[in-house]
Amino acid sequence: MQRTLIKDISASVGTDVLVKGWIDVRRDQGKMVFLDLRDVTGKVQAVVLPNHTEALDVAQKLRPEWVVAVTAKVNKRPEKNINKDVSNGDVELEVLGIEVLNEATTPAFDISTDGYEVGEEVRLEYKYLDQRRPRMQRNIRTRHKVIKFIRDYLDKKHFVEVETPLLTNPTPEGARSYLVPSRVHPGSFYALPQSPQQYKQLLMVGGLERYFQIAKCMRDEDTRGDRQPEFTQLDIEMSFVTREDVMKVNEDLLIKIVKELFPEKKIMQVPFPIFTYKEVMEKYGTDKPDLREDKSDDNVLAFCWVINFPFFKKTAGSDDAEAEGEWTFTHNPFSRADDKHREQLLEKKNIAEILTSQYDVACNGYEIGGGSIREHDAKALRIIFEIMGYSDERIEKNFGHMLKALASGTPPHGGIAWGLDRLLMILLGEPNIREVIAFPKTGEGRDLLMQAPLPATSKALKELKIEIKK
Ligand code: AMO
Repeated sequence: MQRTLIKDISASVGTDVLVKGWIDVRRDQGKMVFLDLRDVTGKVQAVVLPNHTEALDVAQKLRPEWVVAVTAKVNKRPEKNINKDVSNGDVELEVLGIEVLNEATTPAFDISTDGYEVGEEVRLEYKYLDQRRPRMQRNIRTRHKVIKFIRDYLDKKHFVEVETPLLTNPTPEGARSYLVPSRVHPGSFYALPQSPQQYKQLLMVGGLERYFQIAKCMRDEDTRGDRQPEFTQLDIEMSFVTREDVMKVNEDLLIKIVKELFPEKKIMQVPFPIFTYKEVMEKYGTDKPDLREDKSDDNVLAFCWVINFPFFKKTAGSDDAEAEGEWTFTHNPFSRADDKHREQLLEKKNIAEILTSQYDVACNGYEIGGGSIREHDAKALRIIFEIMGYSDERIEKNFGHMLKALASGTPPHGGIAWGLDRLLMILLGEPNIREVIAFPKTGEGRDLLMQAPLPATSKALKELKIEIKK
């Protein structure tokens, strides 16, 4: 017999069906056993009657989370037993036979609740069990829907999705990079990307004109509720565009995601308000303001743009691990200065006053994305590195390839990246980004399920020619 999905059962009243799934709940009443069966599409109640002795024997041994194949007759419930509040509340399965496909150990925690009451460490250790709870199923599926919507939208607008390398060299995003030792080149290390920044710009040099990627990014920085060492960006880059062009595409996409997939949410203001950095700091004291009247109302989305950030800040006291000179970048060293300040930048004058073309998009008190128009002139980009006190040698070693590429016929270009996890956290009304990631890490960057990171074996270290100092 073909498997029937639980959502389709009520269309099969009067016939026999084969249902495969999990035992959600078992209520043993001695002569009869009631079972709630669960599959990917829903739940249904089943009853094992005294006259089906073989099935009853099996049913009495069943435990929650055992995996079963059940053959059953679909009966309409008598009027007085109909439960309109649950799916399949109008039908009941009369069990004819039960095959146990796999037994299950006693679950480490209750999976029928929303799970907020369960300690997070144990949820992370048994993430596969945690994923069975309805809230996690919803989050994972909604994440898929949002990503699919983004892909379809950008595809229609002639963007091309390109996968950029994970084994690469560091790109400056203000955090530390994770390093991966090379066995073939002992003593040399790849860096995992903090973002695809350089590659996406190189794709513009390559003539792609419109790129996007659902991109994994890795940053070795202190984790917080809205930060993970490994997270996902929607990364975008476009050629022959102005700041306004990039902002428009992104604003339109954000609005459509909300309208199509979260119709219950209200966007506070369209078009999104735009603040200068100076305004927003004076008015709200932060560059990611929460503009909602009721800050606890998850159904209101108050998006805004922030522009006109300073390009540079003093290195002293900044958290930029790579900085060496008096100045470092505030957002992105590859940005182009604001048109009004570009002359000043080229002359290396009044550094503190120079503004960048950077734009951030914030929502409900979180920075969900940021980008800029890039400096496509190699000579000007070199000056930016010089302002930051990089030696000619470091510029050549770390950025020589970018300067060479920019000098080879590079169109004006700009882009943006969203923190997809952060956006999903807000859209799903979750308190932190771990709730919208299938296999998140702890605050200390541990994967409690796989027990990563682990010490390397002595054989691996020997091959890599690495010695661990105690
Ligand atoms: P930026 O560093 O601002 O820009 O990153 C873009 C967005 O990514 C999200 N984000 C994070 N989310 C979770 N965990 C983290 N550790 C984390 N770090 C950042 C934020 C942020 O707004 N290459 C540039 C983009 C560009 O200029 O096009 C970049 O990466 O939501």
